[in-house]
Amino acid sequence: MIDFNTLAKKYKTPLYVYDFDYMSSQFEALKEAFKGRKSILAYAVKANSNLSVVKHFAQMGSGADCVSIGEVRRALMCGIPNYKIIFSGVGKSDEEITEALTSDILYINVESDAELSRIEMIAKELGIVARISIRVNPNIDPKTHPYISTGLHANKFGVDINSAKRMYIRCKNSEHINPIGIHFHIGSQLTELDPIREAAEIVADLVRSLSVLKIELKFFDIGGGLGIRYKDETTIAPYDYAQAILSTLTALDVTIICEPGRFLTANSGYFITKVLYEKANSDKRFVIVDGAMNDLIRPSLYDAYHGVDTLEKDGEKSPADIVGPVCESGDFLAKDYPLAKMQHNDLLVLKSAGAYGFGMGSNYNTRGRSAEVAIESGKDRLIRRRESFEDIIALEKEFLEEEM
Ligand code: LLP
Repeated sequence: MIDFNTLAKKYKTPLYVYDFDYMSSQFEALKEAFKGRKSILAYAVKANSNLSVVKHFAQMGSGADCVSIGEVRRALMCGIPNYKIIFSGVGKSDEEITEALTSDILYINVESDAELSRIEMIAKELGIVARISIRVNPNIDPKTHPYISTGLHANKFGVDINSAKRMYIRCKNSEHINPIGIHFHIGSQLTELDPIREAAEIVADLVRSLSVLKIELKFFDIGGGLGIRYKDETTIAPYDYAQAILSTLTALDVTIICEPGRFLTANSGYFITKVLYEKANSDKRFVIVDGAMNDLIRPSLYDAYHGVDTLEKDGEKSPADIVGPVCESGDFLAKDYPLAKMQHNDLLVLKSAGAYGFGMGSNYNTRGRSAEVAIESGKDRLIRRRESFEDIIALEKEFLEEEM
């Protein structure tokens, strides 16, 4: 049991708390599910990019799935070996491509023909051979929130199967490109297995047909996306997930790469916020707290549900919107949530906040970002200090002084 009251006193609120032991057990469970095959779990750094979190996974043998050169740098500095790092994303700049190539990471995940040309050109300039994989968009509806669906042609990600085949043939004839993998990621927070299996089948068929053309791919990268329980979702068991993928790989000798983010960190994380006031506008009840959309934007952006724990607060419950101090009507952490009457300084703990919580935060309304705390083997420690006003203005202040 995490003692949220003590943590809130010690570190103040709003506050992110992560249970590192939970992250470890999720990592082990997924690794175990793929044990029949060569596999690499490449943690999707974007889910929670705190250096201590990335280092925690590095120590467990994880690789990293990165979507900016900043994430690649984080992974490297936390001890993730370059040969387990993948760089994905639809819009990589020349500088990012250059740095990824000189860092000698496992491969760059290519998302368009135009990008392939840039990579080829840069590799030629550097006098090296670029290892790549191609992100295939299998046009499968992942049945998740439209903002986190990525595997349909209507989404900006990847290339269709025919273009992918043409691109691999192009790679084969290039002196500066070595195609070693194939990638797909159809969406996030997936709770149904069929779309994943279907996508894997389409991609595995392509790998087999490339093999006929003597293009032998070594890495079968299935992306991330494994969903978790926020409320009452039926989730996919790691074993079933792995079996669904493995069942499509007949006659293929490939290493599986899996890029989990949310599955590893979401339910390890808690966002603790303190009640400031209660108020009612006519019969609409609001509980105003010190955390806001700049700390946890998922409810505002995706209408996402995060369970709220009131730490044994008694009393009759009635629905309330939990809202923050930010000047936006969209600033809410929960809507119509059944809550007992709250007092000034009572704590609310929002659950499942360990993925896409802190990382999607901002300084909107000149609010400093929360501190982050790790709990490991029953001990707590600070892993990011609370941002001060000075931190927020640091990059602007010098220009003001110049003007004055
Ligand atoms: N690999 C690729 C190529 C991805 O685009 C993503 C997530 C992942 C792996 C990790 O997916 P996960 O295992 O975490 O589902 N901000 C949204 C989620 C965006 C996910 C973007 N891509 C949210 O808060 O729900």
